[in-house]
Amino acid sequence: MNFNDIINERRSVRSYLEKNVCDSLIYKILEYGHSAPSAGNIQPWEFIIIRDEDRKKKIVDTTYIGNDSVNGKSQDWLLSAPVFIVICGNRHRIEERYGKEAAKSILYLDTSACVENMLLGAVYLGLASCYVSGFRTKELSETLSLPRDYEPIAIIPIGYSSEVCFKRPKIDIKEIIHYEKFCK
Ligand SMILES: Cc1cc2nc3c(=O)[nH]c(=O)nc-3n(C[C@H](O)[C@H](O)[C@H](O)COP(=O)(O)O)c2cc1C
Repeated sequence: MNFNDIINERRSVRSYLEKNVCDSLIYKILEYGHSAPSAGNIQPWEFIIIRDEDRKKKIVDTTYIGNDSVNGKSQDWLLSAPVFIVICGNRHRIEERYGKEAAKSILYLDTSACVENMLLGAVYLGLASCYVSGFRTKELSETLSLPRDYEPIAIIPIGYSSEVCFKRPKIDIKEIIHYEKFCK
């Protein structure tokens, strides 16, 4: 699969086959994530791999659909994926180098680069995934026993897709490109 195919075939997949994903493939995805760029090369990410069904259910209980974090239904579709990877960020390590204010954004910038590498890496390996951040952070932190310095950034389910997903419409690229300066 060439780079162009990987970019074009990536989709947010929300339904997976009942087929396991072996540890070596998961490990490859983690390596792709860990190769991402980060401010000052701090690499503030850590990964939690979850296969246990009860744990997966507890994680899903912290999720919600849409904007309503309190009343929104949980994202039960996640349970069809055999593996979850939770990407966590260590804010403290960034604060030490860049200070509290800058760390707020750097944490998300770094870990998002890491997540995107993993999403694309999954496609390369014939797998599918989805970037999920609709969860109650405090609850998920407790469920995962995260130390205080860590924040869960994304849940990415990993599995073999069971759906034919068409490419979601994107804004016409010509509308978002500017040359030399921003032009309306
Ligand atoms: C930061 C971020 C958070 C997201 N959170 C969720 C989520 O909680 N649940 C979900 O089903 N999809 C989530 N998505 C996936 C988007 O809905 C998806 O990327 C978008 O609809 C475009 O579809 P595509 O990824 O197939 O191109 C998220 C994506 C991003 C980048």
